[in-house]
Amino acid sequence: MIGIFDSGYGGLSIFRDIEKKLPQYDYIYLGDNARAPYGDRSQKLIYKYSQEAVDYLFAKGCKLIIFACNTASAMALRKLQQEYLPKKYPGRNILGVIHPLVETVSELKKNSKVGIMGTVSTIDSKAYVNEFSSINPSILVFQQACPLLVPLIEESRENMPETKMILTEYIRPLKKINLDAVVLGCTHYGWLQTMIEKSFGTEVKVLRSGQIVADKLAGYIGRHPEYDSPSKDPSRVFLTTNDNKKFDQAAEKFLGRKIKSKTINLK
Ligand code: DGL
Repeated sequence: MIGIFDSGYGGLSIFRDIEKKLPQYDYIYLGDNARAPYGDRSQKLIYKYSQEAVDYLFAKGCKLIIFACNTASAMALRKLQQEYLPKKYPGRNILGVIHPLVETVSELKKNSKVGIMGTVSTIDSKAYVNEFSSINPSILVFQQACPLLVPLIEESRENMPETKMILTEYIRPLKKINLDAVVLGCTHYGWLQTMIEKSFGTEVKVLRSGQIVADKLAGYIGRHPEYDSPSKDPSRVFLTTNDNKKFDQAAEKFLGRKIKSKTINLK
């Protein structure tokens, strides 16, 4: 069974692509909705919440967890991988969304200047900047925090004039730079992809996480079959730390189909 963790609903959009690419595995999705959004929380809290989610998913039998959340990938993943797993869970692993995106950008033909849009925590952590400097230090990275986008999308206001106005303001500084690519460094921004692409024009490649993460996971699990094997009757379990009826309603938007989730307590 593969665990998928996000602060809330957004990771469902990544899970959607993972499930499409790798339908043969069992999955357990955990959204920490009671404590979302993570985007403006401190590193200490995001680490604590992520560690609790990891403990829960490993206790359920996962050997591999995907952090389908940029903020948790930026603020907690490295420390968990380097300090927590080797001591407490040798032989298990967690993968995030930042490395696959940075790898993909590094393979683009035109990538000398790249923009990153993300939550305040993701941008402040400089996780994308650091990842680029270790994978391809010649790429110039320009960051832009977009704190109002997650709440607007969660309120289904992505087509409202105020969203367009706010988005235009966030994009303005990035548009002054002659960018080759823009990374949507937050699970929610996929809903604004068309608007963002229109705003930057056809010369700028806009990348979102879902499909990239799914493709990289397929390669990874192919090279590391010890983490999971295909199931004869693949199962899907959806867990939330908040009200499950609310989660089921929102899941329709993020996942594109109806589900029945259960409420759990992480503490
Ligand atoms: N899932 C988060 C991310 O990708 C966005 C929502 C939040 O701030 O918790 O950064």
